[in-house]
Amino acid sequence: MHVTTATGDALVHPSPVLVLGCFEERFADDPLMGAIDEKLQGGASSIWESNEFTGKLNKSKLIHTFGRLPAERILLVGLGKREELTAERVRQAAGTAVKAVRATGVPRFTSLLHRAAAGVERSLEATVDGYLLGSYSFDHYKTKKSDEAAMEEVVLLVADDTEREKAVRVAEERVTICEAVTFARDLVSQPGNVATPAYLADQAIALAGRLGIICRVLEREEMERLSMEGILSVAKGSHNPPRFIVFEYLAGDPKKRPVVLVGKGVTFDSGGISLKPREGMERMKDDMAGAAAVMGTLRAVAGLRLPVNLVGLIPVAENMPGGGAYKPGDVVRTMSGQTVEIVNTDAEGRMLLCDALHYAQRYRPAALIDLATLTGACLVALGTVATGVMGNDPALIRALTGAGEATGERLWELPVWEEFGEIMKSDIADMKNAGGAHAGTISAAWFLQRYVGKTKWAHLDIAGTAWEDKGKPYLPKGATGVGVRLLVEYLQRTFC
Ligand code: BES
Ligand code: MN
Ligand code: ZN
Repeated sequence: MHVTTATGDALVHPSPVLVLGCFEERFADDPLMGAIDEKLQGGASSIWESNEFTGKLNKSKLIHTFGRLPAERILLVGLGKREELTAERVRQAAGTAVKAVRATGVPRFTSLLHRAAAGVERSLEATVDGYLLGSYSFDHYKTKKSDEAAMEEVVLLVADDTEREKAVRVAEERVTICEAVTFARDLVSQPGNVATPAYLADQAIALAGRLGIICRVLEREEMERLSMEGILSVAKGSHNPPRFIVFEYLAGDPKKRPVVLVGKGVTFDSGGISLKPREGMERMKDDMAGAAAVMGTLRAVAGLRLPVNLVGLIPVAENMPGGGAYKPGDVVRTMSGQTVEIVNTDAEGRMLLCDALHYAQRYRPAALIDLATLTGACLVALGTVATGVMGNDPALIRALTGAGEATGERLWELPVWEEFGEIMKSDIADMKNAGGAHAGTISAAWFLQRYVGKTKWAHLDIAGTAWEDKGKPYLPKGATGVGVRLLVEYLQRTFC
């Protein structure tokens, strides 16, 4: 969907649909709504009086204007109580609105939604994000066209030329970012028979080529030479060989050490010999959502030409129970030299991440951030509402949490106290790869912490936030692309 701008008066601007934000108050005191109501000969206020629409957040109402206004239809979208308005609510309202427009089959509309909030720039950002993210769908494998419109254009109607300049700048930036989110969602949505480790590596090389950034892909032989036994062990049960993807985007001060991102890239997680139950196993194609977030972030950062040094590391493998598969009881010497007793082959993510985190040390990172759909326990703890964050540097966690509040990709910290390591003790190796039933998200982070040394590190468990079962206003059912907007915001705030 294209995002364009226009200056002008809502009462004279022609459009197939005009989207207007409304608060949970009578709109008679809103001069624009008053004027529109007058043109409609009370058509708007009567809807209000009958309680068909009351401005509640994420409710909407379509009104036909029958030639009384140059806009053919008006879509009222609820913003809730005026004093409770946040950027997140604007984002949600925009997501609700674009879905309602889409359902009418009309592919273009004009928007005044950003005018509802104070702070034009922030509210423009939120509206554009909501429209672009809310109108997403993955139809790649549908052979029949849907009745819903493929959205073509939204026109942001602004007051004057100064506001228009701002809107053009904001739209350009947010389109770049949201296209990167869409790219990440598409990768996650691709089924496991298509999105194999080789496919992800090909996508990485193609992406780097388009962006003009460095990308290297290590194949099995080279990974063996580097003793990446953690990753290699997981890959042993699959016919699809593993990969290790390295991105380097170095546009910052050459004297500054890079931020290194690590993304879990399990293209399908069957659990391996510790096989998962059959119900819902199909979701496990999303177990490379961390990898997708890293690729999406690189795409956005390079697209925006942010002046930062950024490295992306993606270990990729498929976790399958083939004849060569790693087994409970096996001992694996990971790349760092630490040995791990496998007690559950379904705790495979950490076996990938530990080698990647160790590999990251060669960059002497200013900050090391990993993203992984790592534990079902995180879904139990935080649901789909927040990503779990853990780490060893309060300032880094604070910065990430702040970026999470701003983008609506919220984080909640869990403690990684040393006591949580007790359950990871092994009789035969340095540690086990899984603890018991308790504190699963934290014990996974405790395991990862053995591999980061003194590097400032944060671990984001996106098991709950990478996939949306029901659908939310700007997160349609399926892959969310979580992490991209968060990390771009973090990098912009911290380094730009
Ligand atoms: N990919 C899963 C985690 C997951 C589960 C993500 C559900 C999203 C939804 C991960 O590899 C896994 O299987 N973790 C195990 C860890 C356990 C064996 C210690 C889990 O959560 O059960
Ligand atoms: Mn698993
Ligand atoms: Zn997994």
